[in-house]
Amino acid sequence: MLIHSASQLLTLSGGPQRGADLGRLGIIPDGAVLFQDETILEVGPSADLLARYPHEIQVSAAGRAVMPGFVDPHTHLIWAGDRAAEFEMRLEGKTYLEILAAGGGILSTVRATRSAPREQLLAETRTRMQSLLRHGTTTAEAKTGYGLETGAELAELEALYALDAQGPIELAPTFLGAHAVPPEYKDRPDGFTDLVCSEMLPAAKEWVEKNVPGRPLPFVDVFCETGAFSLEQSRRILVTARGLGFPLKIHADEFDNLGGASLAAELGAVSADHLVKTSAKDIRALAVSETVAVALPCTPFGLAEPHYTPAREILAAGGLLAIASDINPGTAWCESMQFVIALACRYLALTPAQAIAAATINAAAAIRRADRVGSLEPGKQADLLILSVPDYRHLGYRFGVNLVQEVFKKGKLIPTVK
Ligand code: NIG
Ligand code: FE
Repeated sequence: MLIHSASQLLTLSGGPQRGADLGRLGIIPDGAVLFQDETILEVGPSADLLARYPHEIQVSAAGRAVMPGFVDPHTHLIWAGDRAAEFEMRLEGKTYLEILAAGGGILSTVRATRSAPREQLLAETRTRMQSLLRHGTTTAEAKTGYGLETGAELAELEALYALDAQGPIELAPTFLGAHAVPPEYKDRPDGFTDLVCSEMLPAAKEWVEKNVPGRPLPFVDVFCETGAFSLEQSRRILVTARGLGFPLKIHADEFDNLGGASLAAELGAVSADHLVKTSAKDIRALAVSETVAVALPCTPFGLAEPHYTPAREILAAGGLLAIASDINPGTAWCESMQFVIALACRYLALTPAQAIAAATINAAAAIRRADRVGSLEPGKQADLLILSVPDYRHLGYRFGVNLVQEVFKKGKLIPTVK
């Protein structure tokens, strides 16, 4: 198939973009992309590709921009129920961490998720996956973390692999057994940390090796935060996970600066995420490492809080920056990477080009898939979007509407997108 006559073909070619390099879109004006089955064969000027491949099935993208599908590298996609009542409580003055300390917040979603029948959990999650796809996300990371006991966490992990197998959106699973301290361990966070290290992580490894042989181990993540896991507890969990062979992620500095970003850099984590209260020292540590800094602007926006990730400082220090939705029922129920881009342009002070690179090729790097997705280059997967607009700058500039007109996943047009 040959998609041609795109007003702009955004290739994002050349690999992940570090520091001041961020924002190279690799635009081919009047561009075309040729793919067969799920693989891109060529990109180039339309005149050239139309002349050389006159007999291909042709799709005109005249007047519209074409780009890689978005990669959303941080989601809490799988949960049951909602927390609309807590949204109202927060607007009436209660804070997120106060609600969590009183047994609500994450713990209320844990109750709903533990008691939901599997089919219901899958159906609710599938509905969100459809919405992500309609808004142009073709690959997403997805975390467990609403089970908080070995069996329930493994059930979420199993569900994530099952949803990934069903497609069409691809999921990169993450084991987040250390998302919060469950009520059974209230006031005994060290005991729960022991359980994560000695029981949950080995069980997760065994489950994956037995049930999805050949798949790489999922990421292991931890919520390093006041009221969740301390820096020392986070270190124990991540060091144990690394010893078992898991690649690492961390939730760091969402509300307080505990040093999680430096820990991530030290341990060679794939990404460190949130990074709102990150100190200058932590930014430096992160920026000289291979760890991707993932900013989640929907979260402060969703919490109506004024502080956002210091993205410009991270870039000035030479860091590798990505952006993600953090979709979850508590702080940020947002399926749209287009909205994430709009927020990033305003509150992280990124240009549309920088935000787009952070949402595609760098986002792919944040889940170790930059070799397969995140750009339109020969050999990569044909995950691509036809926008309804002629110029990439409409992304970011416009918000609250869906500018994605067509989605191709692994070379197939997704019929539900209209
Ligand atoms: O990334 N910070 C921890 N986890 C989520 C919130 C999850 C929830 O509130 O259910 C986050 O913001
Ligand atoms: Fe999160």
